[in-house]
Amino acid sequence: MTDVTIVLGTRPEIIKLSPVIRECERREVDYTLLHTGQHYSDSLDTVFFEQLELPVPDYNLEVGSKSQGKQTGEMMSGIEEKLLEEESDVLVVQGDTNSVLAGAIAASKLDTELAHVEAGLRSFDREMPEETNRVLTDHVGDYLFAPTEQSADHLLSEGIPEERIHVVGNTVVDAVQQNSDLAREKSDVLEELGVERGKYFLLTAHRANNVDDPSRFSSLLSGVSEAAESFEREVIYPIHPRARNTLDGAGIDAPDNIRLIEPQDYLDFLTLQSGTELIFTDSGGVQEEACILGVPCVTLRDSTERPETVEVGGNVLSDIASESIKRGANKMYSKEGNWENPFGDGNTSERILDKICPRSIASLNNKG
Ligand code: UD1
Ligand code: UDP
Repeated sequence: MTDVTIVLGTRPEIIKLSPVIRECERREVDYTLLHTGQHYSDSLDTVFFEQLELPVPDYNLEVGSKSQGKQTGEMMSGIEEKLLEEESDVLVVQGDTNSVLAGAIAASKLDTELAHVEAGLRSFDREMPEETNRVLTDHVGDYLFAPTEQSADHLLSEGIPEERIHVVGNTVVDAVQQNSDLAREKSDVLEELGVERGKYFLLTAHRANNVDDPSRFSSLLSGVSEAAESFEREVIYPIHPRARNTLDGAGIDAPDNIRLIEPQDYLDFLTLQSGTELIFTDSGGVQEEACILGVPCVTLRDSTERPETVEVGGNVLSDIASESIKRGANKMYSKEGNWENPFGDGNTSERILDKICPRSIASLNNKG
């Protein structure tokens, strides 16, 4: 029996839950770490446990890559089994992946409360599986940890009772703050790649809608390539396996000025983000980190569930047509990066633990 079960399954969940896990350790909270196995390649999984010095999960369901329903269903069944064994008071999930939805549904039907970290985000695009996951998870959650007032307003407008909603910031700020100094000390990725700080662009793209269809993916790459050419810049692209599969399957080569590299560990990727002049991405976490680090971002999507990044001036949306990407790059390239960080002060994981495990505050006080 443990007080808290933390479910995670993918790269961004490992990164964004790492401060919550550290806070559990600091407070000596009795917790269980349950990995669904949604991500399993070393470069999306083990490397983060090692680098962020996280404990090996107590359980790994090893569900792996499957269709949406099969993957979610197998994870739900595995999580239910472990929850029945552990009898935890609270189950914690983070974000919007299938692992999150599986954990949410399993907990909601048992005697375990559900805490959703990063609640209330909405892209209002139901074609994204992540939007379904967010909405359903929020509606069965007991503790909804909204990163901003705007995300809390979405929850209120959907009729969710106010007492379940807590505006606490986003744990991504905790993660960036906890690792930025380490990245500066330890990462020599720029030297290894032979790129000069402030003289390259960075790309990440992995959304199903952008990379699964080879012709759409090619248009996206051409657009980014043309935008970079007009600034005489090379683009560094740590490519997600999903996107790599499309290129390999269709026999497509990336344009010459886009350099494909393996997915990076967190310290190297933070270094690549803080050293670049401009980021092109369709990632949720990368939009946030670019905004926090003061690096201009062009988001290759028609909608974002992180509108705060656009509102403060750090991000612009673009469709995948070359002209739109070039327009976005021209708009963002010369931005100073001195916008306000809308995602909180880096103490989000403390606020979360105060709420889900109030007994642990006493343990901190005892330590003085
Ligand atoms: C998932 C999440 C997405 C999140 C992303 C983080 C859902 C619906 N999607 O997308 O929200 O932004 O993780 O990176 O939950 N693959 C590997 N190795 C792995 C994992 C996947 O090679 O460790 C390949 C497989 O070919 C697999 C494909 O990537 O079919 C997609 O993996 P999947 O977990 O289904 O979705 P992601 O695109 O990673
Ligand atoms: N990231 C990383 N290495 C990479 C690319 C991304 O460590 O090569 C990190 C990035 O810093 C961010 C997270 O992965 O914290 C974002 O994950 P991803 O883009 O896979 O998912 P999303 O946030 O879109 O759900």
